Amino acid sequence: ITAVDVIRAKRDGGRLSDEQIAWVVDAYTRGAVAEEQMAALAMAIFLRGMDARETATWTGAMIDSGERLSLAVDRPTVDKHSTGGVGDKITLPLAPLVAACGAAVPQLSGRGLGHTGGTLDKLESIPGWRAALSTDEITRQLNDVGAVVCATTEGLAPADRKLYALRDVTGTVESIPLIASSIMSKKIAEGSSGLVLDVKCGSGAFMKTPEQARELARTLVEIGTAHGVATTALLTDMSVPLGRAVGNAVEVAESVEVLRGGGPADVVELTVALAREMLALAGIDADPAAVLASGEAYETWCRMISAQGGDPEAPLPVAEHVHVVPAPRDGILEQLDAYAVGVAAWRLGAGRARREDPVQHAAGVVLQAKPGDRVSAGEPLLELRTDTPEAVAGALEALEGAVVVGDGPVSQRPLVLETVR
Ligand code: URA
Repeated sequence: ITAVDVIRAKRDGGRLSDEQIAWVVDAYTRGAVAEEQMAALAMAIFLRGMDARETATWTGAMIDSGERLSLAVDRPTVDKHSTGGVGDKITLPLAPLVAACGAAVPQLSGRGLGHTGGTLDKLESIPGWRAALSTDEITRQLNDVGAVVCATTEGLAPADRKLYALRDVTGTVESIPLIASSIMSKKIAEGSSGLVLDVKCGSGAFMKTPEQARELARTLVEIGTAHGVATTALLTDMSVPLGRAVGNAVEVAESVEVLRGGGPADVVELTVALAREMLALAGIDADPAAVLASGEAYETWCRMISAQGGDPEAPLPVAEHVHVVPAPRDGILEQLDAYAVGVAAWRLGAGRARREDPVQHAAGVVLQAKPGDRVSAGEPLLELRTDTPEAVAGALEALEGAVVVGDGPVSQRPLVLETVR
């Protein structure tokens, strides 16, 4: 097999054999297939696609490029992955909730890039909290607490790390087989026996339409099933930010409200819906809404944060500067575009432009109203929080046209659009 043979086969619309896929992914990881050859192959896959068998084999090859965690845990393990959204802090209340119900949740997470936030960036706003854990520490914490949210270990799916960086600079990110195999290689290597995917759709998501999101969801579920991981996907709306807080510390604070029995209704609804799917896969008969209300999930949160060096009672960082955006007129808030709010939070300092940049813990956007709410002219609609006031102008520019106040009524899209099993 040569790289040129594999590129030509896909360029001409053929199906790659299992041998070709295993060879090319392994050779690329070792440096024996050049970056320009993999770039050509990624573009051929982008244009020609891959079928279910090719995609499952490709995923397997990426898993085999690194190690698989074997977690010695005596409870069923189940994880959640979101394809990324604005204000999507659901992992924070969800992991301790599902652990409090009796499952073990190994949630290996990433940092934010672009307009979507990263779970680790959010948690790092808690004084003392540490993202990097060894496999032994992960296993111990899963047995003691039941939930771990930490950084992906270096050894998981190295082929994906290399390929994702290449796709990022060659216009080949937005391919469903490549996205699906990228996500699933990391999640399957993590070794959990069940996986629930939150596939976002709408302006703030990767997938803008329900059709694209549905196809991604089906592909993810097919890969999980082919690799023996019980997998379910929920298609959920991302046209409006989730909850009222978009940023880092502000999202932690909102998650704590949810864990204490309060918080915005949409965050509670999605947390409970995902918990039900995770518990069903783990074979645990528990009512997550009742466990959330009982305070047990909050206790598990405190133990999870303390186990990683964080102080769950410590005050969270507060931004030095707050700029208030008022409602332009009396009426009903009809639209609040998720993508625009995500970009605004990013420009305020909550996100990063380059992988190595730091984030501001206190930066972000706090929504004082959500679509459907009645607002009065001049009343605060959005709070822009930052430590660098010169960033406000860029955030305001991102928000141009994103807020629509009219006379209503507003047709509310359901939050959970579909379930794919
Ligand atoms: N997230 C991933 O992990 N990989 C992709 O390709 C896209 C989103």
